[in-house]
Amino acid sequence: MRVGTPQHRELFCRTFIDTHAAFEPAELPWPRLDALHLARLRAFPFWSYARSIEQRAGRMVTAFARTLDDPQIREAVALQGVEETRHGRLMSFVVDHYGIDAPLIPIGDPPADKDDFCIFGFGECTDSFVGFGAFAIAREKRLFPESFLSIFENVLWEEARHIAFFVNWWRYEEARAGRDTMGLRTIKALKYHVRATLGTAQGATQMPTIPTKLDDPELDAIVKSVTPAMFLEAALAENRRMMARLDPHLLKPTVMPVLATLLLAGIRMLPPRAETAAANTAGGQSADAIRRRDAA
Ligand SMILES: [Fe+2]
Ligand SMILES: [Fe+2]
Repeated sequence: MRVGTPQHRELFCRTFIDTHAAFEPAELPWPRLDALHLARLRAFPFWSYARSIEQRAGRMVTAFARTLDDPQIREAVALQGVEETRHGRLMSFVVDHYGIDAPLIPIGDPPADKDDFCIFGFGECTDSFVGFGAFAIAREKRLFPESFLSIFENVLWEEARHIAFFVNWWRYEEARAGRDTMGLRTIKALKYHVRATLGTAQGATQMPTIPTKLDDPELDAIVKSVTPAMFLEAALAENRRMMARLDPHLLKPTVMPVLATLLLAGIRMLPPRAETAAANTAGGQSADAIRRRDAA
């Protein structure tokens, strides 16, 4: 399959539309959480920001879909808007259902032209990769019951579909404009990643200050036991697992996996630091103790 052909467009649009799942957040099988897991959930400081970001994404993607001429691409992007809007509803449901103190953060709407959608799309590639790592660590450390984590796995699966759709759409548009050479493409993609990161940093100024210590000593110890290398390994493995669920003929995001692989290789070449090893041992004991207790 050649990038930029009608067959390519058919593949990335059809795959995206056909893998859309119909559900309402309030109707999902939300588990009852015990006091320990409820305290952990409430201790995470990102709920306000995550909800506002998802709500804004829903409005932006929906507005961008309306500007598109190609009916098949428009249908797929509109569907992504539906899913982002639903992510916002899902976050709101979690906040209300589990009694999380998460005030609404007003985040203004960005314009919805092609350049903004590109910044948003590359930003999603970064955010999803980080989300994959965080989710894999949460599962590995058994931070929450599997019944709760599996709901969020579905959200991440939707994000994996979004970023795969996005990179295929971007390459399709670039190829049709005669700009699909590898060097140029890599530089452009890196520039968009940087613009997305700067945009996120600006958005983050509206966020309440994130405490360096979580409001739950046990959770704080577990989170601090995660080294950068552990996180990168987890994110890469989860990224591979998610991407393997998609059609093998689709293009997949590469910038974050390549950067993470290079970073990991660099970290592995460093001599181990005494304090890191000590922190690992302390955190490992804490996590093991929790695992034993959960199993009891
Ligand atoms: Fe989302
Ligand atoms: Fe998304």
